[in-house]
Amino acid sequence: MFPRLATWLLIWFGITFPAYPAAKQWPQGTTTRFYDFKIQTTRVNKLCNSNEIVTVNNMFPGPVVYAQEGDRLIIKVTNLSPYNATIHWHGVRQILSCWFDGPSYITQCPITPGQSFTYEFTMVKQRGTFFWHAHVSWLRATVYGALIVYPKAGVPYPFPFPYEEHIIILGEYWSQDIVQLERQVIASGGVPPPANAYTINGHPGPNYNCSTNDVYKIDLVPGKTYLLRLINAGLNTENFFAIANHKLTIVEADAEYTKPFTTDRVMLGPGQTLNVLVKADQPIARYCMAIGPYISARNAQFQNITSVAYFQYSGAVPNSLSLPARLPNINDNLAVKTVMDGLKGLNTKDDVPKEIDATLFLTIGLNVNKCRSPTPQQNCQGMNNGTMAASMNNISFIKPTVSVLESYYKGFEDYFTPDFPSAPLRFYDFVNGAPNSAPNDTNAMNGTRTKVIEYGTRVQIILQDTGTVTTENHPIHLHGYSFYVVGYGSGNYNPQTANLNLVDPPYMNTIGVPVGGWAAIRFKADNPGVWFIHCHFDLHQSWGLATALIVKNGVGHLETLPHPPADLPRC
Ligand code: C2O
Repeated sequence: MFPRLATWLLIWFGITFPAYPAAKQWPQGTTTRFYDFKIQTTRVNKLCNSNEIVTVNNMFPGPVVYAQEGDRLIIKVTNLSPYNATIHWHGVRQILSCWFDGPSYITQCPITPGQSFTYEFTMVKQRGTFFWHAHVSWLRATVYGALIVYPKAGVPYPFPFPYEEHIIILGEYWSQDIVQLERQVIASGGVPPPANAYTINGHPGPNYNCSTNDVYKIDLVPGKTYLLRLINAGLNTENFFAIANHKLTIVEADAEYTKPFTTDRVMLGPGQTLNVLVKADQPIARYCMAIGPYISARNAQFQNITSVAYFQYSGAVPNSLSLPARLPNINDNLAVKTVMDGLKGLNTKDDVPKEIDATLFLTIGLNVNKCRSPTPQQNCQGMNNGTMAASMNNISFIKPTVSVLESYYKGFEDYFTPDFPSAPLRFYDFVNGAPNSAPNDTNAMNGTRTKVIEYGTRVQIILQDTGTVTTENHPIHLHGYSFYVVGYGSGNYNPQTANLNLVDPPYMNTIGVPVGGWAAIRFKADNPGVWFIHCHFDLHQSWGLATALIVKNGVGHLETLPHPPADLPRC
């Protein structure tokens, strides 16, 4: 990708513009950077098939957006595809810019074919590895790219400067129309087919048919240290990543620095990013970088072929055998826990909320609903002839037809309700005593139910996995905030025994809640807007594993969400 020098030149020669006079309420960046995104269909040849996929600017993965801490980004998105589209800037806190967050029907209605919408936001006190992706249907399968934010000029990384940096985006690829696939799966009530391939920077690699040359490669200078910016943009699968014979030192997670932690492999759920340092300190050869699935659910169907890219020393015989990477078993929960245990914030954090004003207890899990269709063969292909669903506190989130933010802002009362419960209806042994005679006692309620939070509330959320249908590690993502992961464990959360880290917890935006376990996160609700919180498996999101937090305005213009932009897409 970009060698160090070119990257910095790119930063220096970014288009500089004077601060926007009309936007006094926005935090001011130093530089404004413009990007033009054209969402369009592109023909690609992959896995012995020729397919039309949706891309940005005919690139797959899409263009990298570069910025520096404090910069303002202005990205004009024009939708030339036949599908509805939006773009979400994953991990960007969107301070006072909720209108530009991107999740469809939460903060905006989709950009319809032929329309455009300009996203504008500032990278306030954030730097590191982010990504952007479509946030409509399952379009993210091909509509994604990296968003790299460098520290302010003169501010070094808290680790030795790497010789080069490379972006590694994990993905899942389907050789069929993904928007149609989502429609079919939801209409069927059943589960989707597994992806045709896992990909690294869009390449399946040599283990798949017709892919011997469809492989990503990094060329190495022996002895140098490389920074890999790992991003999991995959749709429905968590993945392990490892490099043959090389150690990985984690230095950043979800765009926040961590204490260096060295390991043989890492796991990333969809929505997670990790920066790792790798030293090219092995004998000259070609090594495999590999990704393979982490499957914590029972009876799940999945693609079992690993995706491989090459980590190749200069001087290695070009077509020599590549040394294989050793990935953990698909259900190696311990490997996942080991990496999680190793994630600690770089410094002691003074702003971890020690006192809590509000606790939300959210159960997360799957459901099977009783068949309500007159044509069960077509529509009730889920377990025991039911329809599959997912929920928080046993409520499947139904996306409204007007965005929650617009409805809230304009005082419309018909599109959502403010009555999302702060705890499940009843407490029981969520993990081992879960109702499980599908579809008789595994039904979920439906609703566009949201939780309203006063500005400045110090919030704790307990995320509790349930055993209904199956326990599973769910990557739960919160928009608009990073949160401290103050605790996690297996089994049911118990406040008496839970061990909390209020000293140096990692500051993340997506947390893989342990399979059959819980996680506790804390943040101060000081960014007004409507913030989606959901499972980053698109399948579970479509099934309803989500809700929205409405954070009210505080006092004065620095605590108040500005007016919507004039070009906000209409519903
Ligand atoms: Cu990366 Cu709501 O998503």
